[in-house]
Amino acid sequence: MKYACLKSIASYVPKRCVKNSEFEKTLDTTDEWIQKRTGIQTRYFASDEENTSDLGFQAAKLALDRSGLQASDIDLVIVATLSPDYLNMPSTACLISAKLGIRNKPAFDISTACSGFIYLLSLAKAFIESNTYNNILIIGAEKVSSVLDFTDRGTCVLFGDGAGAAVITPTTDKNHSILDVHISADGAYNDFLFTPRVTKKSEFIQGQSIPQCIQMKGNETFKLGVKTLISDVEEILQKNEILPSQVDFFIPHQANLRIISAVGEQLKFSSEQVVITVQKYGNTSAASIPMAMNDVYESGRLKSGNLILLDAFGGGVTWGSALLYFGG
Ligand code: ACO
Repeated sequence: MKYACLKSIASYVPKRCVKNSEFEKTLDTTDEWIQKRTGIQTRYFASDEENTSDLGFQAAKLALDRSGLQASDIDLVIVATLSPDYLNMPSTACLISAKLGIRNKPAFDISTACSGFIYLLSLAKAFIESNTYNNILIIGAEKVSSVLDFTDRGTCVLFGDGAGAAVITPTTDKNHSILDVHISADGAYNDFLFTPRVTKKSEFIQGQSIPQCIQMKGNETFKLGVKTLISDVEEILQKNEILPSQVDFFIPHQANLRIISAVGEQLKFSSEQVVITVQKYGNTSAASIPMAMNDVYESGRLKSGNLILLDAFGGGVTWGSALLYFGG
């Protein structure tokens, strides 16, 4: 039987670190409010010269090095992003492929907001297990700062830029495989989080100008997110007959410390099991899970064969969870 294996992980964080106190200068907000309501202390913003594909390229290059494969071994590149370099073409996956020197191989983007990395895992697993492709490069890359309204205190303090990448390869060893991935969506909640596309016709909503920036019904998203994530995580564990205590690392999407704590407490995970990076990076959308996984990997705690549980919730709304053994 052929399984899919997450062989290597890597991330890239842009240089400029932005503390909460920087927002105090221009907005009616405080470091205390941001930390208390979200857990966020800092986030990193890319420079004007750096685009999403540059961040993704750096993470992808390191993931490739760590996998022991060459760029020429990659059969497919998929990128999840809500902040692509271009509006709809060329895809960020095509741009990263070109930077890596990958030619004549399929490349495309997906748009599932913060659930991006779970959707990427689902696609990579399906392509490998169906014998369609062998070595797949998946990348969550975001320059969220390029779609933030820096006059909206309800959104701009929450997000950061960064990228995470993984190489997914075939294996015959189930104990080093991606065991299960669950993805879902409910477009009925499409107005909870959205980025308006400003055209001549839609430039004004109820007489108000709307910027092409992320808009979010924060509180409604918070409540739906907590409820959905808890039931999704419970379901994937039950379906695979795995107890929370058997999971080495629970790596949730990093949107808000209160969401992570609520889900972690419900599942009775210990603080050693739950990976938290939101305080450092803020919400880096599709990049947040691979960036967090890379942090545990680089700390030396994440070992080959460790069992990892992932979960995410984001715009669409979309959500998903995954159970996998790390490394080949
Ligand atoms: N500083 C100070 N006050 C603020 C700020 C700020 N930065 N932002 C909002 N407030 C105010 C609001 O205006 C409101 O004031 P009011 O009571 O006078 O109206 C008050 O704080 C409370 O606002 P709420 O929105 O109810 O605050 P809440 O506790 O819900 O926290 C937050 C807001 C942090 C956005 C939270 O709701 C959240 O994390 N939501 C979920 C985010 C998420 O998971 N998104 C999904 C993934 S993202 C993606 O897919 C792109």
